[in-house]
Amino acid sequence: MKNLVKKNLLKLKPSATLQINEKSKYLIEQGKKVFRFGFGQSPFPIPDDIVSTLKKFSDRKEYLPMQGLPELRKAISEYLTKRTKIKYAPDNIIITPGSKEAMLLMHVVFNGEIILPAPSWVSYEPQAIIGKNKVHWIQTSRENNWFPSGKDIERVAKKIGNKNKILILNSPNNPSGTTCNNFDEISKIAKKYKILILSDEIYTDMTFDKSYSSISKFYPEATFISGGLSKWCGAGGWRLGFLPYQKIYLNL
Ligand SMILES: Cc1ncc(COP(=O)(O)O)c(C=O)c1O
Repeated sequence: MKNLVKKNLLKLKPSATLQINEKSKYLIEQGKKVFRFGFGQSPFPIPDDIVSTLKKFSDRKEYLPMQGLPELRKAISEYLTKRTKIKYAPDNIIITPGSKEAMLLMHVVFNGEIILPAPSWVSYEPQAIIGKNKVHWIQTSRENNWFPSGKDIERVAKKIGNKNKILILNSPNNPSGTTCNNFDEISKIAKKYKILILSDEIYTDMTFDKSYSSISKFYPEATFISGGLSKWCGAGGWRLGFLPYQKIYLNL
């Protein structure tokens, strides 16, 4: 049989984080000292509350509503509205098994081109390839706090022309660790060129600085926010107390 795999998928490369892991393992075996910045595995145990709740519901087998549990969507809506001061109605919230899956589905559904700051989380580009969405990279720099400037975005937007566009913005950022301080400038250009924003806020509850900022405050009409529990729980955030919408999961 020929051409069993779709042509666009042949462009996928092995995961960079897994490659770093394998290389580190090899170097450590050679006796080299290595500071690993590859794949992150939480050193913390699963919180007792989560283990007991999972046990409690392990006999439940019904399919859930497609968009997610209504109580959970309502709790997330209230939490986001309080944080962003913008109304994110429960109907506009979708629950998925991990935000990675939500983003992949977005790429599958979206018909247009993707603007990605470099460096970025390693999965954004492969997901765009799977969804057959062309990627336009914007190189960022230390001087710009590792985020794209309005001018950078404008240049790429002009190049893409009148096709649909999504800019993926990840603040606090993986890998740089910085938070974006030019939302205002970015949102003005995004409005001008009708660019949708995917605001990946998965690290938002993990900053030392307690203030919350998001591009959704500047450009709510065209911003999707994605978030999740994995990073916060994985870094031991639950030790400081669960967040309101997390209590819904746990029935606390
Ligand atoms: C920036 C960023 N976004 C999203 C994810 C995916 O998170 P999850 O699928 O666990 O919600 C990760 C995981 O490494 C990440 O680093």
